[in-house]
Amino acid sequence: MVSLNLVRKSNAALRTLTSPPTTPNKITALFVGGTSGIGLSTLRALARHTEGKALTAYIVGRSESRAKPVLSELQSLSPTAKFKFIEADVSLIRNVDRACKTVLQNENGPGGSGKLDFLFMTPGGISVPFRGRDETPEGIDRLFSLRYYARMRFIQNLLPLLSNTQGKGRGRVLSIYGGGFEHRINKCDLDLKHKHTFSLLNAYKHSITMTSLAMAHLAKVNRNVSFIHAFPGLVGTSIYRNSFPGPVAKVYEYGVWPLLWPFSVGVQESGERGLFHLTSGRYSARNGGDVGGEEGEVAVGVDGVKGGGAYLLNWKGEVRGTTNSLKGYLDDGTDGVVWRHTEALLGEAAERTL
Ligand SMILES: NC(=O)c1ccc[n+]([C@@H]2O[C@H](COP(=O)([O-])OP(=O)(O)OC[C@H]3O[C@@H](n4cnc5c(N)ncnc54)[C@H](OP(=O)(O)O)[C@@H]3O)[C@@H](O)[C@H]2O)c1
Repeated sequence: MVSLNLVRKSNAALRTLTSPPTTPNKITALFVGGTSGIGLSTLRALARHTEGKALTAYIVGRSESRAKPVLSELQSLSPTAKFKFIEADVSLIRNVDRACKTVLQNENGPGGSGKLDFLFMTPGGISVPFRGRDETPEGIDRLFSLRYYARMRFIQNLLPLLSNTQGKGRGRVLSIYGGGFEHRINKCDLDLKHKHTFSLLNAYKHSITMTSLAMAHLAKVNRNVSFIHAFPGLVGTSIYRNSFPGPVAKVYEYGVWPLLWPFSVGVQESGERGLFHLTSGRYSARNGGDVGGEEGEVAVGVDGVKGGGAYLLNWKGEVRGTTNSLKGYLDDGTDGVVWRHTEALLGEAAERTL
């Protein structure tokens, strides 16, 4: 377990990293789902620990007016930072493309940093039990898109910025979902298009396993970027209220959550740990490099190699063992199959006429 003390010490070291606030020392980050829960808490930690320094943080969410209080709070935590809101419903791949275009234009344009240090992704929610496939106009199940396809599109579009981090190899991608819970998947219907293969459980299995496989594949070909798929533990966010209609949310909040609460991680601690995942040298890219947090012993990647560049973490920052199903898929090249399927499906979705 990475102790909370170590996490705090490492995060506190970020203050020295961005001084003076010149371009090479500037931090550029994108939070997809930074308006609430684990994303917001990690963003708060980043703002606090880099206060007074050069930080540009893009925040993607569905409503700028709803996000106003969050933006003011972040600005007061770090008055010199720039928080730029991008309004987008990212269950649609074309909206992901538009959001990425804004980041690419700004960061590649005059005064831009030419890089992206952190891509932190948490969009999504929980499915109402027994609900079937809920297709977006682009033909992807909405939650499957938020948990997997949209996140992969952000990575795909932003890899040029993520790998261009002043040659230090410190671009880092973090997807918060279910790292370590990989299962067998249906290779003949990866996007669970058919009624008889889609179920709540299969949707979980596919989005988790495909995230880990895609990251393992991407780390092999993008050696300057590190990829983390983390399970955050049970965190007391507003996920029930954000996901369920009022009465169902109340049942969870008052009936289910009190039973789960003793096993949960506080939202603030989750944010501190999220920032540690993003900045600790122990989860380095294949080519090494870190962002200025603690250097710790380099972790073992999903491929079993120390410093492998793709990591599955639990909420405490420990590496999860590679499950037998995942190991089998890595050995037989399913990671490449999954990535090629993902690229093809994303291309079709973005071009589909609505
Ligand atoms: N909380 C837990 O105990 C827990 C446990 C395991 C896994 N997870 C996973 O961790 C992730 C984050 O959970 P959380 O508890 O932080 O959830 P949360 O508090 O409900 O936050 C979800 C975020 O996603 C954004 N979002 C949702 N739909 C979106 C859309 N269509 N387009 C753009 N942004 C969208 C929301 O922003 P707007 O509403 O502003 O659009 C919000 O910022 C989820 O994938 C969840 O499944 C959570």
